[in-house]
Amino acid sequence: MSDAAPPVLISESEIAARVEELARQISADYQDKGDLVLIGVLKGAFIFLADLSRQLTIPRTIEFIAVSSYENSSVSSGAVRLVMDVRGNIEGRHVLIVEDIVDTGRTLEYLIGMLESHGPASIRTCALLHKPGSTEVEVDINYVGFGIGGEWVVGYGLDYAEHNRTLPYIGKVKPSD
Ligand code: IMP
Repeated sequence: MSDAAPPVLISESEIAARVEELARQISADYQDKGDLVLIGVLKGAFIFLADLSRQLTIPRTIEFIAVSSYENSSVSSGAVRLVMDVRGNIEGRHVLIVEDIVDTGRTLEYLIGMLESHGPASIRTCALLHKPGSTEVEVDINYVGFGIGGEWVVGYGLDYAEHNRTLPYIGKVKPSD
């Protein structure tokens, strides 16, 4: 993979403005519910979660979960594997799953099923990016930052084989780069 900066798909300022809007909407929706637990899906959601969580105006706590399905390639293996479960108790609590991107929908479907077994009060989902053209399983995404095409994207937490996670914007790469 070349080290050239990938072309910009979504700029830093567009991301910041959208994250602010999402935080405002989530804060309003959970205003009277209390006790929201944000579950960030590692590794890709760590930057989005950091920015989103700091802009919420409601009480919230942070958990992380780690799954794997791509195993360093840009083609989903189809099977989602749990790498690290949440540490805290989420029983009876309102859960918001925070994902970097929803592609086929398999990861989110797996996570919802898995977290439901912990007995939360509710589960909603938030994804910075969504590839609607790649859907293989339908899952409800309650909060979406941007819909994009089928291209592979990197930056703002997302990688291609661990490259470009810390790029400040969302860029496009061809898997052959
Ligand atoms: P899904 O299970 O196919 O919906 O894939 C979800 C996961 O695949 C995301 O959490 C990402 O880790 C990864 N993924 C899918 N598309 C991309 C992309 O374009 N760039 C980086 N990661 C991606």
